[in-house]
Amino acid sequence: SVERTLAMIKPDAVRNGHVDSIIAACEAAGFVVAGRTDQQLTTSQASQFYAEHEGKEFFAGLTTFMTSGPVVALLLEKPNAIKDWRALMGPTNTEKAKSEAPESLRALYGTDGTQNATHGSDSFISAAREAAFWFPGDLAKERTLAM
Ligand code: CMP
Repeated sequence: SVERTLAMIKPDAVRNGHVDSIIAACEAAGFVVAGRTDQQLTTSQASQFYAEHEGKEFFAGLTTFMTSGPVVALLLEKPNAIKDWRALMGPTNTEKAKSEAPESLRALYGTDGTQNATHGSDSFISAAREAAFWFPGDLAKERTLAM
């Protein structure tokens, strides 16, 4: 069924000029871009977005990276958007993506284990929370929950 997910194009991919290629790949795969916002996160916002990873050894590096430059947040719509976007991104670690899914977005545009070009919600609950984080006051939350 039609579903929404929250994607981000991370600071490494933005810095390296990959925004248009990533959005083109996304649309070629059948996703509709229902929302877009370009912003640089504060440390407090990045910590809030990635709250589930607080306490992990990579947390400080992750928030430092995610605040290092602007990101592009996208609301993506498609049947099975959550799973399909994660498949299009490939494995979290760029090196693993390069060996296991060489056509994936992270293989093509990622940098390393932390700087991996893109993010995608990992569940229906995360998608609703993350869509509301980036698109507050939009119908994002209700619509995600309704779908
Ligand atoms: P993302 O899908 O945005 O979700 C959490 C992020 O933390 C992940 O992509 C990576 O950027 C980063 N990350 C996850 N696991 C590790 C790890 N083992 N070492 C370093 N960074 C990680």
